[in-house]
Amino acid sequence: MYRTHHCGALSLEQLNQTVTLAGWVQKNRNKGFIVWVDLRDRYGITQLVFDEERTPKEVFETAQGLGREFVIQVAGKVIERESKNPHMATGAIEVLVESLTVLNSAKTPPFTIEDQTDGGEELRMQYRYLDIRRNPVKENLLFRHQVSMAVRNYLSRAGFIDVETPYLIKSTPEGARDFVVPSRMNAGQFYALPQSPQTFKQLLMVGGLDKYFQIVKCFRDEDLRADRQPEFTQIDCEMTFVDQEAILQQFEGLTKHLLKEIKGVEVAEFPRMSYDEAMKTYGNDKPDIRFGMRFKELNAFAQGKGFGVFDSQELVVGIAVPQAADMSRKEIDALIDWVKRPHIGAKGLVYVKCNTDGSFKSSVDKFFTPEDLAEWATHCEAEAGDLLLILSGETQATRTQLSALRMELATRLGLRDPHTFAPLWITDFPLLEWDDESERYHAMHHPFTAPKPEDLALLKTEPGKVKANAYDLVLNGNEIGGGSIRIHDQELQAQMFDLLGFTKEEAQAQFGFLMNAFQYGAPPHGGIAFGLDRLVAILGGQETIRDFIAFPKNNAGRDVMIDAPAPLSGEQLDELHLQTSPPPKQ
Ligand code: AMO
Repeated sequence: MYRTHHCGALSLEQLNQTVTLAGWVQKNRNKGFIVWVDLRDRYGITQLVFDEERTPKEVFETAQGLGREFVIQVAGKVIERESKNPHMATGAIEVLVESLTVLNSAKTPPFTIEDQTDGGEELRMQYRYLDIRRNPVKENLLFRHQVSMAVRNYLSRAGFIDVETPYLIKSTPEGARDFVVPSRMNAGQFYALPQSPQTFKQLLMVGGLDKYFQIVKCFRDEDLRADRQPEFTQIDCEMTFVDQEAILQQFEGLTKHLLKEIKGVEVAEFPRMSYDEAMKTYGNDKPDIRFGMRFKELNAFAQGKGFGVFDSQELVVGIAVPQAADMSRKEIDALIDWVKRPHIGAKGLVYVKCNTDGSFKSSVDKFFTPEDLAEWATHCEAEAGDLLLILSGETQATRTQLSALRMELATRLGLRDPHTFAPLWITDFPLLEWDDESERYHAMHHPFTAPKPEDLALLKTEPGKVKANAYDLVLNGNEIGGGSIRIHDQELQAQMFDLLGFTKEEAQAQFGFLMNAFQYGAPPHGGIAFGLDRLVAILGGQETIRDFIAFPKNNAGRDVMIDAPAPLSGEQLDELHLQTSPPPKQ
């Protein structure tokens, strides 16, 4: 037996018992006549003591030479510590070691295995197995396990069954590029890794399984960000004979359950907002509603007064920044520079200080009277002491810029409290979006999303105006899930492919299997998929999903530990028909 207890288990309850422990050497403090070793495993740390008088000579000498991260097994007696450590679960005791076996030695690790490490990100990724020994990383993985178990249990109890769908498939257009896998047995042909199991879960509904879920890897070859990985995990769900309301209820239930079980937080009914309202009020479709600073349109108040910058623009829109009127000129100038940065792209920023004495000071005092400014302040619901910040320009671009500024200010003002959870359903998305580059419509969600029945007639005349039966779940400004009611009618699906620019032949070649299935009694169905990595990160109070993935990719999409991707040998390339071998010599 390697151990009788874990390293986090012992207390005064086991006083005088002889125990066996196994683990890693976290620290070795050698005082010459006494050696203390912190022994670590997944469960905690136990202090071992070796002393010249009481420990057998050989054991004492071996203990003196123990290096960091050596793997050892010890047996000894639990004794009371002279100076106790109230911050440690095992802080009242230590183990006086009688025997010691070095199970494995270790090279000095390239960074310190402590909560605060000296290792940079890239180095820690290269030695991820060492990073995982650190508490913050280990705890994130344990936390992820807790969340995914809670999801499984909840869904299983609600009658959903876990079905695996294939990874080697034909590409499903979900907006990103596919990762492809060459086929050895079918020269010149490729599988694609699924961007999601979308069509398969729909076929499971045609197959009559009624309620499906899967915690499943998805693959998307897209540019990476803090909340995006090329392979990530979805909680993928689908239900039969449901309308949008039933789906929102079911998955609001799941999310509430997770918040309660994992965070101990009770959340009231989730608010809902249409896509149009979200764009108008927050400038994006995943608003963080933990704080205010809602957009207020000022065209009616600010145009036609001789200020050319506003007069010529499509939109004049402002936010009231709480209690920021005392910002210095320098701080405001820095904000102006911030919005002018190329990736934000605003031309300038107008400010109005709503002073606590009731006066106003603005960057446009020359053009507007104090009464004008007071009117703006009232419309923006600014209070005394607030700062109005106003942008103008083309509608969509200006909203995007103000949205970025709103988030930046919220971060600076500490309004994005990670322990507050503000979920929000966004509904009524447009079905299609126009892409200037390819000069055609793209599905905003995916091509299987059903239009709202009342908009069906518009499909032929004004497709851009059709709304979809689609919804996203937003949590603290992050899109954590998205789904829709699906098309289950073959003709409507064919019409959709036509709108998206597929010829009949292309649609048949790519999606014939689905349209065929729709001819054999496809039931009405719909579903949703949550991003598990994002959900876990946000519940954990963070936004970088990499920290919650055991072996993530870096920003260039590389796994620096195994050094992938990597070239293939000529032989493999030949076998996969990816290069032409030189013709055999005559
Ligand atoms: P969608 O594309 O919206 O929908 O994806 C669902 C959720 O998956 C998460 N997500 C990601 N997480 C990490 N890295 C990525 N690269 C990444 N891409 C997406 C997001 C997102 O909300 N088949 C549909 C679902 C459906 O209609 O039922 C789908 O995949 O949290």
